[in-house]
Amino acid sequence: MNGKLNGKVALISGSGRGIGRAVALKLAGEGARLVVNDLERDTAEQVVAEIKAGGGEAVSCWGNVTAPDFAERFVKTAVDTYQGLDIIVNNAGYTWDNVIQKMTDEQWYAMLDCHLTAPFRILRAAQPTIRALVKQESEAGIESYRKVVNISSIAGLGGNAGQANYAAAKAGVTGLTKALSKEWGRLRVNVNTVAFGLIKTRLTEATADANAQIQVEGRDIKVGVNPELMKAMEAQIPLGRGGTPEEAAGAVYLFCIPESNYISGQTVVCGGGFSLS
Ligand SMILES: NC(=O)c1ccc[n+]([C@@H]2O[C@H](COP(=O)([O-])OP(=O)(O)OC[C@H]3O[C@@H](n4cnc5c(N)ncnc54)[C@H](O)[C@@H]3O)[C@@H](O)[C@H]2O)c1
Repeated sequence: MNGKLNGKVALISGSGRGIGRAVALKLAGEGARLVVNDLERDTAEQVVAEIKAGGGEAVSCWGNVTAPDFAERFVKTAVDTYQGLDIIVNNAGYTWDNVIQKMTDEQWYAMLDCHLTAPFRILRAAQPTIRALVKQESEAGIESYRKVVNISSIAGLGGNAGQANYAAAKAGVTGLTKALSKEWGRLRVNVNTVAFGLIKTRLTEATADANAQIQVEGRDIKVGVNPELMKAMEAQIPLGRGGTPEEAAGAVYLFCIPESNYISGQTVVCGGGFSLS
């Protein structure tokens, strides 16, 4: 593999499907070595196999990002396998909507745990490794930049009815990004957020089946957007359509390459020109 990210070690949560998978394939195609995560072993290992079949390097670290020991395991997999850690993409997530009067504490905390606490723990677990690598590099006269890309949503910037839990968690992601960009500048880590608009994945895919569900932690959670609503949403997007996972991956990629070495603490909206704010 020969590309812009040759030899870089990248951790991507929720990279078994959708946007995370597209990011994993894009970074691997540019020479990065990947730690692929998803809830189920098969989903993660399928992407690992795909990357290897394309001549890249990848290893799986499957499991729920909300598990208390996950962050340490994720970082350790990168260090044990590749002796490095250069890029972290906090992407794993799902939605669990309801209007506030019907939203349970369980629903509220599930979103905060997955979208905000899990990225916090992963970044906290990565700090000692990053600090040690930076020290080694400084002693060897090497100056290298590391990248954190936290995934948010236009719902976290502008709010969205029925998503008080998700919007609050995703708004928290931008705060986490800003704080860490200030804390980690001296370690030469660029910390940025990509907030997506409507991207066509399992999360949003138009479905006539009102009962389409996914399983997270033993809970059945409704996914998909009703086709009529999807059409109405797409009509409001200046580019006239929802984005593809590959287009979404492109926005993340911009924050992973050397050309963005002097950009930190920022949020880019990848939404075809649409914004809720
Ligand atoms: N698709 C959109 O329109 C859209 C818009 C805004 C933000 N986002 C965000 O983008 C990210 C990716 O979403 P997507 O559209 O690709 O969805 P997706 O359902 O296609 O893929 C998400 C992947 O994350 C995994 N995942 C979910 N919870 C997890 C957990 N607790 N631990 C480990 N893995 C977990 C899922 O199994 C799935 O494979 C999410 O953070 C989502 O909130 C998506």
